[in-house]
Amino acid sequence: MTKGVILSGGWGTRLRPLTCTIPKTLIPVANKPVVERQMLLLKKAGVKEIILAVSVMDEYLKNYFKDGEKLGLKIHYTKEESPMGTAGALKIAQPYLEDENFFMLNGDVILNFSFKEMLDLHLDYGGIGTIASRQVDDPSRYGVLIIDEKTQKIEKFLEKELFNPRDINQNTMPVNAGVSLLEPEIFTYIPPRKKLSIERDIYPKLTKKGLLYHYPISGIWKDIGKPHELLNGNILLLKELLEESKNYSKKIIAQSADINQSVRINPPVMIGEKTIINESCEIGPNVIIGDNVYIEKGSKVRDSLIYKEVYISENTKINKAIISDNSLIRKGVEIRGNENNLVILSSYVQIQDNLKLICPSNTSITVCHHEVVKEDII
Ligand code: GDD
Ligand code: MG
Repeated sequence: MTKGVILSGGWGTRLRPLTCTIPKTLIPVANKPVVERQMLLLKKAGVKEIILAVSVMDEYLKNYFKDGEKLGLKIHYTKEESPMGTAGALKIAQPYLEDENFFMLNGDVILNFSFKEMLDLHLDYGGIGTIASRQVDDPSRYGVLIIDEKTQKIEKFLEKELFNPRDINQNTMPVNAGVSLLEPEIFTYIPPRKKLSIERDIYPKLTKKGLLYHYPISGIWKDIGKPHELLNGNILLLKELLEESKNYSKKIIAQSADINQSVRINPPVMIGEKTIINESCEIGPNVIIGDNVYIEKGSKVRDSLIYKEVYISENTKINKAIISDNSLIRKGVEIRGNENNLVILSSYVQIQDNLKLICPSNTSITVCHHEVVKEDII
């Protein structure tokens, strides 16, 4: 049976300070870790065994998933002393993957497509690898694929820094969506014990030999590498979940949540288990609230992610922000980002009464974990 290996070991530097207290792949999207959603999609395609290629903050992932039993999967962990790069990490997982083809995923992308269909196509093509490809607005931030339209072979794989948009009509170039289906033969191209990037060091060699194909995907796809992508990706996924379940009220509210009747909910909105929202609050649009959150009366939240166990006191206003778990926002606080910049609070942050945290037009506001904010940040 085809297995899956998920790369889950980067530093997640572009998402700091969120990734100071949680590895990037455990960050919730629509209230479930991004990597857990990937695992469930793999399971749907028949995958039973998953190898998590971990390095930094590996203990968080092990504590969360354990041996995978809760998800009905068998999960193995490989370990790098320090990050070995995407190919170096894959090489360490080789002992689990030598018998049969396998999926390899970047653990930080939100997606929703048929892995089964990709497997069928890969077998038809018969290459060493098939890479899921996706059209995006700005290909220059990803691995760009130059395709031979007749054969669907990838002629060139250009990882971001090797791609010059002036050379190529960038609007038509699909990018590497971070999911590949690979044959064990790939291991003959990866030397052991070396820090290597599959995108920079291995795929370009394979494309020269005509051994890689692509599988175009559509639908939801988002790399959560940067804060605004994380926010947008969450909302896109929420909309997709609402659509899939034909939920015409456009809100997903956990049964154990306690929402006062006078609360105004502007969809789309998702509210987690045991969350309590008091009178005269206004929630949404585009809000996802985790489990065990408490919101006092008269508060307004829109275009934001609130993680679990956050306490929001009365008459606060939150707009374009990501508030991590266990933070405490005291009364009358105003938190406001804008189109390009968000206010990001890491875990266990406290904001004192009546403060204003308002992003200027060109920078975001970030607060590190356990920090107590005692003055306005404007
Ligand atoms: N185990 C391990 N070790 N995992 C790693 C390491 C490492 O040394 N370095 C990165 N990863 C993991 C990250 O955690 C992430 O899940 C995945 O590998 C990709 O790394 P990113 O750092 O997120 O790369 P990127 O987003 O800039 O680019 C990659 O993803 C794009 C699609 O989202 C590339 O694969 C691009 O080609 C691709 O288009
Ligand atoms: Mg990424």
